[in-house]
Amino acid sequence: MYQDLAEYYDEIYSYKDYAAEAGKVIALIKSNLKTGGNKLLDAACGTGKHIGYFKQHYDVTGVDISDKMLGLAKERYPDVQFHQADMMNMKLGRDFDVLVCLFSSIAHLKTYKNLNKALKNFSRHLKKGGVLIIEPFIEPDKYIAGALFADMVNRPELKITRMNISKRKKDIATLDFHWLIGTPKNISYYRDRHEVGLFDIEKFKKLMAEAGFDAAFLKDGLLKDRGLFLGIKN
Ligand SMILES: C[S@@+](CC[C@H](N)C(=O)[O-])C[C@H]1O[C@@H](n2cnc3c(N)ncnc32)[C@H](O)[C@@H]1O
Repeated sequence: MYQDLAEYYDEIYSYKDYAAEAGKVIALIKSNLKTGGNKLLDAACGTGKHIGYFKQHYDVTGVDISDKMLGLAKERYPDVQFHQADMMNMKLGRDFDVLVCLFSSIAHLKTYKNLNKALKNFSRHLKKGGVLIIEPFIEPDKYIAGALFADMVNRPELKITRMNISKRKKDIATLDFHWLIGTPKNISYYRDRHEVGLFDIEKFKKLMAEAGFDAAFLKDGLLKDRGLFLGIKN
């Protein structure tokens, strides 16, 4: 989805209220940040839809592994610095006051080993007293296999149906999306499969602590059932 279907990403997630989400994240930053600085890194920023709101308050940099997603973000905000990198081993050569990683992007790391690498790398990119906010995917106990999902776009010149049945193998969820994309020229079928990690909250917090954060999990997050991890670099 983040490469060949990147141009449809914002369409399929048009139900998301990025303004409200960014507002909640900014309020959380304001009540926790003690560095006095304003440099914010959006890790796995995708097409950059939170960035428009963050940049009204912070000096923002975006990172993503997908050149296609970044291309769309750059088009949207030519004044923002973007880097193509893997959040596990990015080396931006400077530190930030705030690092956010939103909309379950962290789950793409799949394993605790990779999560550990990313958290340590996030820590290396943050100043002491800096704020880390991560929106995870669903907890292992709450993820239900065998549920049917559908998202639709219904505009005059673009129709999309994306369906999947949730699957899991232990603590890896498979999101096996079937897409039908219609324009007045053509109707195409695509299959787009992602394996994502179902991370336990206590294990996640333990890894955050080991990476140098005072860690908390806030149940009331941006989307239902996801929550937010909040870390303060110690
Ligand atoms: C669900 S999208 C979220 C994008 C954006 N944060 C948002 O809220 O719309 C997940 C993003 O994570 C990116 N991603 C996946 N693995 C990554 C990695 N290891 N390093 C950096 N970005 C990654 C994908 O390319 C994709 O843009």
